[in-house]
Amino acid sequence: AASAVMAKAVQMAPDSWMPGGKPDPLIRAQHGHVGRPISRVDGPVKVQGAAPYAAEFPLDGMLYAALVFSTIAKGKITALDTDAAEAATGVKLVMTYRNAPRMKPMPLFMTSEKACGGNDLPVMQDAQVYWNGEPVALVLADTQEQADHAASLIHVAFEEEHAITALAEAKAKGVEPGQFMGQPLKFENGAAEQALADAAHKVDQRYTTPRHSHNAIELHAVAVAWEGDRLRVHDATQMVAHSAWSLGHVFGIAEDQVHVTSPFVGGGFGGKGLWQHQVLAAAAAKLAGRPVRLMLSREGVYRIVGGRTITEQRVALGADAEGRFDALIHTGTTAMSHHNVLPEPFILPARSAYATKTMKLDVEVAYLDMVANTFMRAPGEAVGTFALESAIDELAHDMGVDPIELRLRNEPDKDPTTGAPFSSREVEKAFRDGAERFGWANRQAPGTRREGEWLIGTGVATATYPYYRMPGGAARITLTPNGAAIDIAAHDMGMGTATAQTQVAADRLGLDMAQVTFNYGDSTLPGVVMAGGSQQTAAIGASVMAAHRALVTELLKLAGNDSPLAGLDADEVVGVNGGLAKIDDASAHESYASILARAQRNELVVEAEPPSPLETTHWSMHSHGAMFCEVRVNAVTGELRVSRFLGSFDCGRILNPKTAASQFRGGIIMGLGLALMEETQYDERSGRIMNPSLAEYHVPVHMDVPEIEVMWTDIPDPHAPMGARGVGEIGITGVAAAVANAVFNATGKRVRDLPITLDKLL
Ligand code: MOS
Repeated sequence: AASAVMAKAVQMAPDSWMPGGKPDPLIRAQHGHVGRPISRVDGPVKVQGAAPYAAEFPLDGMLYAALVFSTIAKGKITALDTDAAEAATGVKLVMTYRNAPRMKPMPLFMTSEKACGGNDLPVMQDAQVYWNGEPVALVLADTQEQADHAASLIHVAFEEEHAITALAEAKAKGVEPGQFMGQPLKFENGAAEQALADAAHKVDQRYTTPRHSHNAIELHAVAVAWEGDRLRVHDATQMVAHSAWSLGHVFGIAEDQVHVTSPFVGGGFGGKGLWQHQVLAAAAAKLAGRPVRLMLSREGVYRIVGGRTITEQRVALGADAEGRFDALIHTGTTAMSHHNVLPEPFILPARSAYATKTMKLDVEVAYLDMVANTFMRAPGEAVGTFALESAIDELAHDMGVDPIELRLRNEPDKDPTTGAPFSSREVEKAFRDGAERFGWANRQAPGTRREGEWLIGTGVATATYPYYRMPGGAARITLTPNGAAIDIAAHDMGMGTATAQTQVAADRLGLDMAQVTFNYGDSTLPGVVMAGGSQQTAAIGASVMAAHRALVTELLKLAGNDSPLAGLDADEVVGVNGGLAKIDDASAHESYASILARAQRNELVVEAEPPSPLETTHWSMHSHGAMFCEVRVNAVTGELRVSRFLGSFDCGRILNPKTAASQFRGGIIMGLGLALMEETQYDERSGRIMNPSLAEYHVPVHMDVPEIEVMWTDIPDPHAPMGARGVGEIGITGVAAAVANAVFNATGKRVRDLPITLDKLL
């Protein structure tokens, strides 16, 4: 299979976007660092407690901040009693709209290249309240305890205005068409409703998913200091360069007057962007003339950082006698606030997962006065696959066809919505290999497998997440006689970026891991890379490829006519054994040390940017997977236990099997939370989140998680840097459907409303 893929790659080279116009040579590399299960390069400092997180930077004269949140969804502040707080021990400042510096609203995420605000509302600028939980006062004190206590002494009175906090009322006011990244979330091909009506077999069902709140282990935190008119920010973020630019915009200073670093992040998942706490901390630091640390409480994260919003989805499938789809309809409603950019795009997986004669996709949006919802791991796909993949299971059951077989009968040979060829698609292999490892063949009819009180069942679902690559800007390589440093404003939030990129760079350069340093997490480095959309690896990879090509070109110039490399160009050499060698002729080799010495250079520094990311305009590019689940449901109590889980993935080349496996497993665990327990309890009368703590908002703990097996095809994608598609978000997709389908197989009960709590099984 690998040689077939490579043959295809060479054939497709004219369309390649890649630097030099050829597929990444690393796609072919077989015995280097890439593909080895190398332990995290940042592991030792983390386990030693030597890795500083945002809230752990002790700044000189630093004050600690605490926030007070509004208790109404909409209205005006009519009275603010801050006297007791101001008189409390250790308090240095109370900031409210009355004394906060004038600031522009945050530039809304994705509305321009580096905009990354979670909302674009005024930040403590007037008496108006926009959501229940909005910060209305900030206290600075000498210690966190003093700040927290003083915040509790502040009394705020409000005059309420009518807020839209209930979905039914929002829908009654009128829904609007959803848009995602400038594209409508609507697609029609043929007369899908008619095809559904005429189909030999059909299902037509409604599914709902609740709100979810971000619960990264590391709370959102920031430590800031003004140095004159320059702002220094120690942040926990997925986007350092975007944050620097956006904070500059808020405070009316240039991007390069803001220096954001974020070397270590304790989980992001889409929630670690720019929210009001960073802006408020910088504002308070300015007002107080002292550095400020602001770490949100767990409640604070729920109040001001958005999460995943609710969806109500319809999936209707019409199939012919053999189960081939005549109609695929996926429509529904989601809620969002007027001040953010994410109508949970749950139809995304349906665009490319199955061949169908007709299709109708549509997301409508109802607007609520609520905390601005946001991106959460696989926004769209995580909940969209629940509905779509449940419906396919329902159809398979009704038709008496194996659910894997039904899916494979509807494998598309090109993208069903765009007509583009797939860059690489091994869905069938992922299913067949997974089925064999899981023992799918032992499956029994619904409700027929029982051990004592326990009903046992298995289920399967498709996992899918697009390959994205946003323009990542430049990367810089500094080559010295003894090694190289790669610099790019990217992120490692725990997923293993620094490790995988060190592997990749070492292989490109022909160096040992220990000779390569990967510097990231600093807005002053070249590049503009967001750790999101599972695209960071590709984005960094392309920038490093471009810089590497520039480096090699420069080295060959420096090498000159006395070098064994004389006369060769960048396409004719590879990095090997600490230098460059002619491809397929290792005897024509010169070390970097030798090239630099002859040129009387101590180092060579290059910076370069790759061509535009055009691969996704030529190809339909997606990570794929097959999720297998076994559940045990107690027939007496309804207790539901996931007893086995297997994820079989097709994500291109796996750069590091150890860190990739952790990404897959972590995604699956988050998917188990989505399936079984996660639910933000939102009071529709007040718009208030009622369970803002991990005591009441349940996430999977060890007892909820069985041993999770993961496997992958490891077939390189010829059109992606390193042959690798994303592994970050696909793990959560398909999980909830695999669980729900297993629950049906165990009990004969179909649960269409997440989470699948035990009351729904009795
Ligand atoms: Mo992710 S939701 O793109 O961090």
